Amino acid sequence: MIILSIETSCDETAVSIIEATGEFPVATYEILGNALFSQASMHAEYGGVFPAVAKREHAKTLVPMLEAALIEADMLETSSSDISDTLTAKITHTLEREPDMHAALTEFLKEHSLPTFDLIAVTNGPGLAPALWVGVSFAKALSQITGAPMIGTNHMEGHILASIFDVEEDDQLSPIVFPAIALLISGGHTELVLMSDWNTYKKIGQTRDDAVGEAFDKVARLMGLSYPGGPIISKLAAEARSEQLPPFKDDLPRPMLHSKDLDFSFSGLKTAVRYAVADTNLSETNKKALSRDFEDCVRDVLITKTKAAVEQYGAQTLIIGGGVSANQYLMRAFKSSFIEDSPELVVYTPNSGLSTDNSIMIALAGHAHMTNASNPAAAKYIVADGNKSL
Ligand code: KG4
Ligand code: ZN
Repeated sequence: MIILSIETSCDETAVSIIEATGEFPVATYEILGNALFSQASMHAEYGGVFPAVAKREHAKTLVPMLEAALIEADMLETSSSDISDTLTAKITHTLEREPDMHAALTEFLKEHSLPTFDLIAVTNGPGLAPALWVGVSFAKALSQITGAPMIGTNHMEGHILASIFDVEEDDQLSPIVFPAIALLISGGHTELVLMSDWNTYKKIGQTRDDAVGEAFDKVARLMGLSYPGGPIISKLAAEARSEQLPPFKDDLPRPMLHSKDLDFSFSGLKTAVRYAVADTNLSETNKKALSRDFEDCVRDVLITKTKAAVEQYGAQTLIIGGGVSANQYLMRAFKSSFIEDSPELVVYTPNSGLSTDNSIMIALAGHAHMTNASNPAAAKYIVADGNKSL
């Protein structure tokens, strides 16, 4: 089956076309087309994602991303679409809040027709509601045009499945021995999730304030670095380690390290960095050392809490996902720490390109729940839910 998937929950606009052969979770997934546009540079001046800008850019970029994915998949048909007046009216209604995207799609349909898809999967939460709505409305219009069933998928489930998708080996999902624990670390979320079976999730811990990616971004901003801060901080931290720089601030807090629950807190760490840099003209060396000091605190908190979760639930598998799992230093630290303490535990981290937001993961999450897909008429009731939980 051919799945068209769409992701617009934050600042990446992504569209993929994936061919799934076999049933979830033992299917093979071939990526036929994959188009992604990152708006990061547009949000840089705000030091984080600015929702109105994200919404506008998604609306501008979705049709070009659809076209790029179709071209890569060799599925772009060059005959114009034959669309009835009734269907035209439906599409106009579906996209009434997105006039520019409606105009772009109308132009596209004058020159191209859409192939048939077996499923259209779109992120409908969690994320920034205005950004999510653009993707959801677009998916509805495409479902009406092609007649394909549509499903709203959970972005966090997408991150979990992306982390076990072995795109470098066999294009399949790696096997999971349950119970499994997923640590999800992104710009909007930091949570520990218990997976007792496929498609069965329970949140067992979460941040009480900032998400860990958000802490990276905010700390970067405090140091005068650009957005997104995660990749920059981790690069500076690596330089500090290889140059063996002394600490800039050796008493940064490791919040909630010893709390009895599985929750996190990162705002105190960020505030400690704010005090450390106040009225200081940071040299390049200071920035490197402070990045390392900060990353070490994050490492200790994440590993300690995850270990507690693994022990408490007798987990056999650990899955780490979300944008912060692109951090290779942290992933190596996790692996070596668990190899020492729990050699039986299988630890999965995402293949390159699958840690930060993408639409491949949305196709996987859609496939996992395809029996719940709605036909085009029922799809109009699918809503975006910024707080959707697993
Ligand atoms: O999952 P994601 O792409 O978007 C959300 O769903 O939030 O995560 C983005 C977050 C940003 O906060 C970014 O700074 C962080 O992931 N990030 C990193 C690294 N690469 C991206 N954080 C630490 N180290 C990295 N190498
Ligand atoms: Zn994400």
